Amino acid sequence: MSISITQAVSLAEHTTLKVGGEALRFAAVHDEDELVAAVAHAKKEKLSITVLGGGSNVLVSDAGVSGMVIQNRIIGLALEDTNDATLLTASAGEVFDDIVAEMADIGVWGLENLSHIPGSVGATPVQNVGAYGVDVADLIQSVRVYDTETQEYSELSNADCQFGYRDSLFKKPEGKKYIVVSVTYAFAKDAGPTLDYRDLQNRFENTPTPHEVRDAVIEIRSAKFPNWKEVGTAGSFFKNPIIEQSRYAILLETYPELPGFPTTDQKIKVPLGWILDKVLGLKGEGTEKVGTYQGQALVLINRGQATAEDITSFADEIVAKVKEATEIDVEWEVTKIK
Ligand code: EPU
Repeated sequence: MSISITQAVSLAEHTTLKVGGEALRFAAVHDEDELVAAVAHAKKEKLSITVLGGGSNVLVSDAGVSGMVIQNRIIGLALEDTNDATLLTASAGEVFDDIVAEMADIGVWGLENLSHIPGSVGATPVQNVGAYGVDVADLIQSVRVYDTETQEYSELSNADCQFGYRDSLFKKPEGKKYIVVSVTYAFAKDAGPTLDYRDLQNRFENTPTPHEVRDAVIEIRSAKFPNWKEVGTAGSFFKNPIIEQSRYAILLETYPELPGFPTTDQKIKVPLGWILDKVLGLKGEGTEKVGTYQGQALVLINRGQATAEDITSFADEIVAKVKEATEIDVEWEVTKIK
């Protein structure tokens, strides 16, 4: 099996933030055999492996990647009907929003709240992407992976994936050896709409179709997110902090309107976008190179000429300001690649 491996490929062109240096080696893989060959090549040359999907949730350093970048372009879809669920197995290189649209078109409930999230299917379990009250982990039955250590394919169950808020096994050191090749989503046949999220409440007079919910989500998102095909962005740049109830109570004394959502482990998730906007006045602020989006302060945008260093120092400044004002430790949601 021979695959095409290129050298000195600019990664800025393969990421939606549009920054970052070059990959020493770059291989786009289109099927499972090509992936095996790409990994074997990296091992032989003693190169580190970095997997890139749609590049919509990463910040690549200006120095680039001194190893091999594998771009996962494996495509393929299979639908299967069981008694109580519709199963969809999608290969990692499929555009996630295409399958969201496809399921809404055929009237299957499940993915519609995740409409217009940029990126590929392979990224969905890694990030446990979520929006408008639905996390993809709720819908994932299993994930097929390639283990770069044993060089074998295997199947991980939902529990194996250790899903958390924007978190999974694949982000932990012990999960780094896996490359996601396909994801099986299970959509329960007795499912209906999930409309609890503030922005979706009271929007429909009658029970909507999956397609109507998709259209509503797209409308809501268009006001809050820049078009990532035109503006350099990676969506929410930071995670929403999960804080102790005692800290939330202290913050409420100063900011009585600060929203808070209880988590299953008795903590409170607070919207960082609200803090950046209402506490720090940072919505739409920044430099001529990098700033927060005027429609949503949690979204950072590359205003055209930013380097990874510019974005990193702007983000670090925000983290420091939040810490100073609220004592909250903020984590990046975007993955750093160096
Ligand atoms: N808010 C403001 N000002 C802002 C931004 C937000 O006051 O500039 C307030 C909003 O009014 C709302 C609250 O903060 O009361 C939360 O804002 P929003 O509903 O826009 O959602 P978010 O918490 O900022 C999260 C996810 C998004 C997801 C949306 C919708 C994270 C890090 N972000 O954003 O996911 O699309 O909810 O469900 O969890 C992503 O992860 O990249 C992402 C885009």
